[in-house]
Amino acid sequence: MADAPPLPDPITRPERFVERLEAINEDDLHALCEATDAAILEGGGFGWVNPPGRRALEAYYRGVLLVPERELFVARLNGTVVGSAHLVRPPRNNEAQAFAAQLMHSFVAPYARGHGLARLLTVGVEDRARELGYHVLNLDVRETQEVAIRLYESLGYVRWGEHPEYAQVRGKVIRGFYYAKRLRPRRSQTADAS
Ligand SMILES: CC(C)(COP(=O)(O)OP(=O)(O)OC[C@H]1O[C@@H](n2cnc3c(N)ncnc32)[C@H](O)[C@@H]1OP(=O)(O)O)[C@@H](O)C(=O)NCCC(=O)NCCS
Repeated sequence: MADAPPLPDPITRPERFVERLEAINEDDLHALCEATDAAILEGGGFGWVNPPGRRALEAYYRGVLLVPERELFVARLNGTVVGSAHLVRPPRNNEAQAFAAQLMHSFVAPYARGHGLARLLTVGVEDRARELGYHVLNLDVRETQEVAIRLYESLGYVRWGEHPEYAQVRGKVIRGFYYAKRLRPRRSQTADAS
């Protein structure tokens, strides 16, 4: 009997991909809103405590793409958008902090976690920040976001501060932790420059 054909790669190993979107089509917008709703319902950060409704979410993401200081990154699992993160550049009047950008609103839908997408998203945002010439990437997290905290610390983010009243979720006050990472040029960039 002939050997069974090998399973297609996406079944054995899901295809992971992170990209920066400058525009969003209806399918991606729908998937991004689904992912956001699921992450909010699971209690995972991103500002909202309750899903704001599909219309508000769609308007929000369309608005994000219009903000000059903001870049939207999405994570795909087998082609479907399942998470995102923002790179936020300092406003133009902030000359004194023109070297530092911020990573915000990073999340992966509960149904797509554990595939390494948050790590890929974070590294993708860092690479883009380097490409734009930023030397520092700042971020902040709720104390309850333990997986994220471990991830950021493993990537070299250093905790420099704490806010005792960072967020309120269902009446409970939650601390926030502030992190920064100095963005060193990647080895290949160093080699290119020499
Ligand atoms: C934090 C979050 C983004 C991680 O997403 P993810 O795609 O599952 O993360 P990854 O698969 O890239 O895993 C990152 C690391 O965390 C570990 N990890 C993932 N889920 C875990 C879990 N439930 N328990 C323990 N460790 C876990 C992974 O093993 C991995 O470690 P490694 O890179 O050393 O192997 C996701 O859980 C989430 O959206 N949480 C709610 C929102 C949030 O916390 N956002 C970040 C702060 S703004």
